[in-house]
Amino acid sequence: MSDEAARAGGAADEYEIVAGAIFRDGRLLLAQRIRPPELAGMWELPGGKVEAFETPQHALERELAEELGVVVRCGRRIGVDVALGRGRVLRAYRVDILAGEPAALDHAQLAWVDADDLEKFDMVVNDQAWIPDLLTELRRL
Ligand code: CDP
Repeated sequence: MSDEAARAGGAADEYEIVAGAIFRDGRLLLAQRIRPPELAGMWELPGGKVEAFETPQHALERELAEELGVVVRCGRRIGVDVALGRGRVLRAYRVDILAGEPAALDHAQLAWVDADDLEKFDMVVNDQAWIPDLLTELRRL
């Protein structure tokens, strides 16, 4: 198993990046990227890389504490696996906020969007694969 696969704890050569879908009052939290330059200004589900010896769930809880300043509990998967190349896979999980109010500690700004708004936001290409499932969830709420 490669070092990356060992870090991700997954199949050989698989390296996971995790992102959180936080729903509240019929809206979804989006975060606007500040880097790299080619993604700055585009919107994403906040998250990041799974580090050595972390579970994906723990990594997402850590990332959202760092990026949003909230205590969260990672829930079920939402949306498809997104293959990013070089063995990297991006996965989204539903997340519940246990404490705190999300703040843009590592993003330009945050937005709570409903089903009508979601398609108006310029989402990073990788995250666009999740839009159908996110819309289904928003319309169910
Ligand atoms: O916070 P960290 O540096 O661990 O991760 P990041 O730079 O936010 O994301 C790692 C990689 O995953 C980058 O290539 C991001 O573009 C990608 N990513 C993504 O495509 N969609 C997300 N919702 C989060 C990350």
